[in-house]
Amino acid sequence: MLNKIEEVGANKSTFYELLGGEADGKETIRELVETFYDIMDSDPKAAELRAIHKPDLTEAREKLFMFLTGWTGGPQLYMERYGHPRLRARHMPFSIGESERDQWMYCMISAMHKIGIVEPMLTKLATQLHGVADFMRNK
Ligand code: HEM
Repeated sequence: MLNKIEEVGANKSTFYELLGGEADGKETIRELVETFYDIMDSDPKAAELRAIHKPDLTEAREKLFMFLTGWTGGPQLYMERYGHPRLRARHMPFSIGESERDQWMYCMISAMHKIGIVEPMLTKLATQLHGVADFMRNK
């Protein structure tokens, strides 16, 4: 679980705080997740990734929002509702290789650009998320 960030911004700030700027990180994470799934839902480069998701992405949107809120150091919304994420186990039903991982990262980085997340936050967040996405590989 990621909750402290040292290289970017003030000491002991969390990604959650830094993403929000003056406001709350909640709005930025919501926007990031909505944009991420909108891209997955429409960009042909993410077609294989889209195909392993349910036709209706409502639940996936809500769960990723809840998870990322806690993962970035905000309130542990996902854990409070569903318990420990056990993310790797929860992804076992899906066949995930390099191409699925890369499509996931493609959607995420495109979403970050689209909503205006800038350096150094962009690279830092993308690097950490790449680590998580790579850990999901099971084929
Ligand atoms: C590496 C490529 C990945 C693939 C192919 C993938 C695929 C999926 C799929 C198919 C679902 C089920 C969604 C549905 O209901 O339709 C899911 C759920 C989920 N994914 Fe991923 N995922 C990936 C990476 C990640 C990463 C990096 C994170 C977190 C940073 C993440 C967080 C989640 C969460 C929180 C859920 C909901 C789990 C639950 O409670 O059921 N996923 N993912």
